[in-house]
Amino acid sequence: MNLSARLLSIANKVNQSSNIIDIGTDHGYVPIYLCEKNVIQKAVASDVSKSSCDKASKNILEHSQDTRISVIKSDGLNSIDTMGFDTVVISGMGGKLIGKIVDDSVDKFSNIEYLIVQPQTDVEYVRRKLHDVGYKITDEDIVLEDEIYYNIIVGKKGNEIYEKEIEYLFGKVLIDRKDKMLKSLLEYEIIKSRDIIKLLNESKTENAMNRINNINKYIILLDETINSILIKEGLDECFM
Ligand SMILES: C[S@@+](CC[C@H](N)C(=O)[O-])C[C@H]1O[C@@H](n2cnc3c(N)ncnc32)[C@H](O)[C@@H]1O
Repeated sequence: MNLSARLLSIANKVNQSSNIIDIGTDHGYVPIYLCEKNVIQKAVASDVSKSSCDKASKNILEHSQDTRISVIKSDGLNSIDTMGFDTVVISGMGGKLIGKIVDDSVDKFSNIEYLIVQPQTDVEYVRRKLHDVGYKITDEDIVLEDEIYYNIIVGKKGNEIYEKEIEYLFGKVLIDRKDKMLKSLLEYEIIKSRDIIKLLNESKTENAMNRINNINKYIILLDETINSILIKEGLDECFM
């Protein structure tokens, strides 16, 4: 099975011989791919929606007929026994929903060594959530697919807090690595923010002025992050 760049990046974060639970699996492609490649020993492909569970079951039958994948209809981890599993994947959902799924079943994560998340929104919130529930952020990637930037974040059991706001906003791992895709994302965010300011400037309402103030503060953080990466490396060309 060929995965999209986003799903491939998620799948590549799963360790050899893992036992995974893919929450909100929908099509089930990640567990199917990982079984095909013999990366994992077993998987639960789970979704709150019956039609998504049916879709995953159909795809499993069509692609691999793999008996190592069980499909379970569940709201988050509510109907899933996590014993015997070490990795949870939650991808393609809003960051707040990912946070809620984790909060609703925090006890069930006690044996989950790795939590791999790909939030569609609220990435800063998700980084803070990982730290709040006892995961260190050990790896991150940014993938550009169909002109959308996606963050993939790997949490490993352990304690950690970041000191700077920009580390939660844009990812300490990415900043430290002087990640090329992070630089591209930050530059895109600056252009987008300036375009929004231009539009808001036309309206002149109090609400518009407040939004401009907030966007300007955000641009300062974007600049600070770009500069901190450049200062660390010295040369723009040295981005990975
Ligand atoms: C956009 S799809 C993402 C599918 C896949 N994980 C991916 O990254 O491509 C989001 C899926 O999450 C499921 N979902 C939403 N809330 C959920 C919850 N509370 N528990 C389990 N699945 C949920 C939806 O039914 C949907 O199939």
